[in-house]
Amino acid sequence: MVQRQRAGSGLFNHFFFDLMDEVFLKIRGLKKHFGSNRVLDGVDLDVARASVTTIIGKSGIGKSVLLKCLANLLTPDAGAIELEGQPIAKSRQSSDREAGVSFSYMFQNNALFDSMTAADNVALPLVEASKMKRAEIRDQVAEMLAHLELTDSAQRYPGELSGGMKKRVALARALITKPQLVLFDEPTTGLDPERKFGVFEMIADYRERFGFTALLVSHDIPEVFEISDKVAWLDEGIIKFFGPPSELNEDAESALSGFLNKANYGRKSNV
Ligand SMILES: Nc1ncnc2c1ncn2[C@@H]1O[C@H](COP(=O)(O)OP(=O)(O)O)[C@@H](O)[C@H]1O
Ligand SMILES: [Mg+2]
Repeated sequence: MVQRQRAGSGLFNHFFFDLMDEVFLKIRGLKKHFGSNRVLDGVDLDVARASVTTIIGKSGIGKSVLLKCLANLLTPDAGAIELEGQPIAKSRQSSDREAGVSFSYMFQNNALFDSMTAADNVALPLVEASKMKRAEIRDQVAEMLAHLELTDSAQRYPGELSGGMKKRVALARALITKPQLVLFDEPTTGLDPERKFGVFEMIADYRERFGFTALLVSHDIPEVFEISDKVAWLDEGIIKFFGPPSELNEDAESALSGFLNKANYGRKSNV
């Protein structure tokens, strides 16, 4: 009896703690290996609702694998993923809409369809989901393209667009359904500094306007910290640091500065 009361009050406290923190996405003990390569070895992460959380870490460490596990493109070996308190496996069996959560994934390589115009690529998620009328889809796509300064490129094919423009088309497609959770895998890689800033600003701006929760992977340090509420450092299969960017610990900084120096070195040797 006493024990039951204790358990009850514990749950009660936990419930209010969660409400206050508004944990939207909860990851516990996530594991994923490929052969002998243990990529994720027990990842724990809490992502607050309507926050921007950025995953940082060396190249090849498992950042994309983590996002793909969340997006159901890879099946984890072990662990739990909860969206709004619901195990993600359950929400997969039913439709995402039934589970009340919609999410988008922006691929590292854009993954645009080459045979479709920019406008048709952006429209695709609405067409596929759709109960929407054509005219309504057209209006929403036009509005999104205008936001991303892509109006003049609406009828062009991906092959006719610059790298930066393709990135923005992919971003427009990820945002067109007004998703609650958006996973961005290196949204600014390959962009010039001005466009980089534009994309980060846009993510922050849209987050504010639509209230979505953003989980990013980025190498653009420290620029990405400007829009990040929390930073998660993935190393050796686990999250070794989690907190606001201003509190990034020395271990993470020294590991990353080594990595960034290498990246810079690589860039210099290319010039
Ligand atoms: N589908 C796959 N099959 C086998 N190995 C994979 C697969 N996807 C990723 N890996 C391996 O997992 C590790 C992490 O990759 P990735 O998540 O892409 O790294 P990054 O942190 O650069 O995004 C790498 O060693 C990569 O080779
Ligand atoms: Mg990657």
